[in-house]
Amino acid sequence: MTRDELISAAIEARQLAYAPYSDFAVGAALLTTDGRLFVGCNVENASYGLAICAERTAICKAVSEGYRKFQTIVVAAVPPSGVTHVSPCGACRQFIVEFGTDIEVIAVNADDSSVTKSWKIGELIPDNFTFDQLD
Ligand code: THU
Repeated sequence: MTRDELISAAIEARQLAYAPYSDFAVGAALLTTDGRLFVGCNVENASYGLAICAERTAICKAVSEGYRKFQTIVVAAVPPSGVTHVSPCGACRQFIVEFGTDIEVIAVNADDSSVTKSWKIGELIPDNFTFDQLD
């Protein structure tokens, strides 16, 4: 799967977002180290705080299918005017770094897939809390 295909998958996944409260649709595409693709969208709830982000949906789908090694995750949303991209929220950063500091995170503007920004997850959540800090 190419980078462009992964970006397209995230933009397409956004179409299934369940976001009646925020009206802010987000899609994610997660690539495993062995080339499997898992997509996800945000899923909101009338009890607002229960909303699940697109990135965490994709990760839960992958882990629940037996995949735990990830190369890249793309997050796709349409940022408001004047904003270039939408970054993963703090909860999603913590959720991603659980599976490795080297996972590449790409944010893409769903209205213009040529606009991207990328990082390693370790850059987005430095000095992160992971299993090695547990007893
Ligand atoms: N959202 C995501 O899906 N991913 C993020 O990284 C940022 C926020 C969703 C959660 C909520 O449904 C909506 O965007 C507005 O916050």
